Amino acid sequence: MELHKIELVADWLKNAHHTVILTGAGMSTESGIPDFRSREGWWKKIDPMTVSTIEALENEYEMFHGFYSLRLEDLTTCQPHKGHKLLSEWEEQGFVSGIITQNVDGFHQEAGNQTVHELHGSLRSIFCSTCGHPADEEAFLNQKACSECQGHLRPDIVLFGEMLPQEVWGQAIRLIEESDLLIVIGSSLQVSPANELPFLTDGKKVIINNEATLLHDQFDLQLVGRAGDVLEVINKQMKGGELT
Ligand code: APR
Repeated sequence: MELHKIELVADWLKNAHHTVILTGAGMSTESGIPDFRSREGWWKKIDPMTVSTIEALENEYEMFHGFYSLRLEDLTTCQPHKGHKLLSEWEEQGFVSGIITQNVDGFHQEAGNQTVHELHGSLRSIFCSTCGHPADEEAFLNQKACSECQGHLRPDIVLFGEMLPQEVWGQAIRLIEESDLLIVIGSSLQVSPANELPFLTDGKKVIINNEATLLHDQFDLQLVGRAGDVLEVINKQMKGGELT
């Protein structure tokens, strides 16, 4: 890993006043959760348009339910990794103002982060797609119908073609606009409007990803590597530890 880049990012993190972290699915692969567009990603196995749309929810509920209950079950056996825990420590120590995530696994909150904006919602929250009545994960996993109207249950995540939660979107924009350092971790930045956020900061932009993205050259610094490992080396540098 490029030592001088690590030293630079550690220095920026220590001296910035408002650092914001924007994460994607690459932040959770080291926890055992597949991402979407890398070699082993979900969209390499199935076409998102057959499971992750309103049409799928309304006309192919078996497929829709099968896909999302599988992903929800994954969460019961996976947990946040060392990278999530470091981001939580950095918030506690005042180095990070907040996290904006495209992920729906709730791992940033589980790792202890307080300010987390979930742009695409959360798999952990279930409600009825007909009447909106909330339901628990168990009911969804057991393919129960809504207790109020017998409608289909769904997770509270943004499907392709749906609007992002407007309040969360507004909070994310405000956080970014105040930032003087933005660090993107584990995202291909192929999905809008999330991929517009990095360009709303006047501060420095860093991307940590294990492969180049189409927007790489728009960043002040690119660190290629696994999120957990890179964050660990940056943390050592910030704490004055010896880099091996
Ligand atoms: N460390 C660093 N980068 C990683 C790691 C890792 N351990 N694992 C994967 N990556 C990289 C991949 O190489 C890829 O470039 O993270 C990126 C993940 O990109 P995507 O799979 O496209 O995920 P994301 O950018 O979060 O997708 C955005 O698309 O399907 C929708 O709603 C879904 O929120 C998701 C959105």
